[in-house]
Amino acid sequence: MWIYRVVLVSFEPLHQKTSHLEGLRAAFGDRLRRDVSLARYTTARVGGPAEIFLEVRSADELALAVILIWQSGEPLLVLGGGSNVLVSDRGVRGVVLLNRARRVRFTQTSQPPVVWAESGAGFGLIARQAASRGLSGLEWAVGIPGSVGGAVFGNAGAHGTDIAGQLVVADILQRVRSGQEVMPNREEWPVERLEYSYRNSVLKRNPGQVFVLAAVMRLTRSTPEQVQARTDELTSYRRRTQPPGASMGSMFKNPPGDYAGRLIDAAGLKGRRIGDAQISTLHGNFFVNNGRASSADIYSLIELARGAVADKFGINLELEIELVGEW
Ligand code: EPU
Repeated sequence: MWIYRVVLVSFEPLHQKTSHLEGLRAAFGDRLRRDVSLARYTTARVGGPAEIFLEVRSADELALAVILIWQSGEPLLVLGGGSNVLVSDRGVRGVVLLNRARRVRFTQTSQPPVVWAESGAGFGLIARQAASRGLSGLEWAVGIPGSVGGAVFGNAGAHGTDIAGQLVVADILQRVRSGQEVMPNREEWPVERLEYSYRNSVLKRNPGQVFVLAAVMRLTRSTPEQVQARTDELTSYRRRTQPPGASMGSMFKNPPGDYAGRLIDAAGLKGRRIGDAQISTLHGNFFVNNGRASSADIYSLIELARGAVADKFGINLELEIELVGEW
């Protein structure tokens, strides 16, 4: 475990930003870019520009960049797979870090076998690599477009299971406050410390304070044929029930005892369009971008669905995705 000591700098107006970001500029040079459109980094293919944008390529680079941004007092957003966020059309103030820390290492000789992955690694890809090695436990994740970090952050899941069941430890960078000072602290958190519940975690409840750098997940020995058969079954269910194309996956969490998709369907909203955004004709909880949708179009559909389900069934749907940027 290592500890840095950082003095919190209060927020300053835009024209003073350059000096605040000197540390980041010294470390990353012209890899820092300005006004980069985020649409191509989100699975919904919408979103305005990041004021300042940096792609990090390892967990250590991610940790360094986060600490320097904390020091600068600038707002910070870390983007992984971009699959569970709706970025506003007006974009994101401050710094957006694109997490491309993607190293993955399987240890098959340990008991149980495990996979260690940096947080920018694609979760679906790891699940496919596990399947080809005959390692079971992540079949449900094949086809999930998000990153390991996003999955650990939001307790991603499918087919009645989630990452809480597989995670052993997460390598976490935390911002610990003590009076006016902030101490970044990097340590391994066992799964219990993440306080997981359905699509929720202590990380999700403390946005901006805690970041996932890497994670270790537990697997079970099986055979490639068996794991592949289960993977194929789940993939074919997903293909039958979920639309292809640009979306954010499930828009709302399922309310206790029911399904957001069923409720939106029963409210008669499947196929409803606003601009180029549409509630999928296949699944009511998927909102698709037919090509030129804006975030505002998608947001209007969210309000429409929420309002209709509240009026008809008295249920308040809670977003599963995160709204980021200037709304
Ligand atoms: N249903 C309808 N109409 C619809 C959609 C669904 O009646 O338009 C009914 C289905 O017939 C089924 C029930 O609602 O009886 C549940 O639907 P489904 O099996 O498609 O699962 P879900 O609860 O909508 C969850 C996860 C998905 C995951 C699938 C498959 C949530 C919010 N969503 O969807 O996760 O892929 O199960 O396991 O928990 C995600 O989180 O982004 C995600 C895609």
